[in-house]
Amino acid sequence: MDLKELYRDVILDHNKRPRNFGVLAPPATSARGHNPLCGDQLTIYAKVENGIIKELKFEGSGCAISVASASLMTEALTGKTLGQADTLYTQIHALLTHADTPDSTSTVDLGKLAALSGVREFPARVKCASLCWHTLQAALNDPTTPVCTE
Ligand code: FES
Repeated sequence: MDLKELYRDVILDHNKRPRNFGVLAPPATSARGHNPLCGDQLTIYAKVENGIIKELKFEGSGCAISVASASLMTEALTGKTLGQADTLYTQIHALLTHADTPDSTSTVDLGKLAALSGVREFPARVKCASLCWHTLQAALNDPTTPVCTE
């Protein structure tokens, strides 16, 4: 399967059947992010114990790419350490924004997340894919400040 097919199939699947959609009650932290270009909003909830992300959930309304990206992110990071989450955030940011970033530079196998590189063909959609990742950073580090991807 080439990257275009992977992109189409993964985005369709995760938009149709979002994983980890829902709310976590405190003491889980949360942050709300929005894309000012379209008004779409996502809230990310994170339950962290001893430096491990035990549970991640999201809710909100967004386009297929933003929902699929959030679904993929929660799936990929549940059970990971905060350090691994930081590393993956950096890798995804590079994947979405640098057309010449080969996947082989990754220190971890991105798996299905590699499909997100498909948005590089549609620069206006990069914010859609990155919204949940910025919002997760806020949920983990600065949950009181709303995130705006502008
Ligand atoms: Fe709103 Fe994608 S169009 S987040």
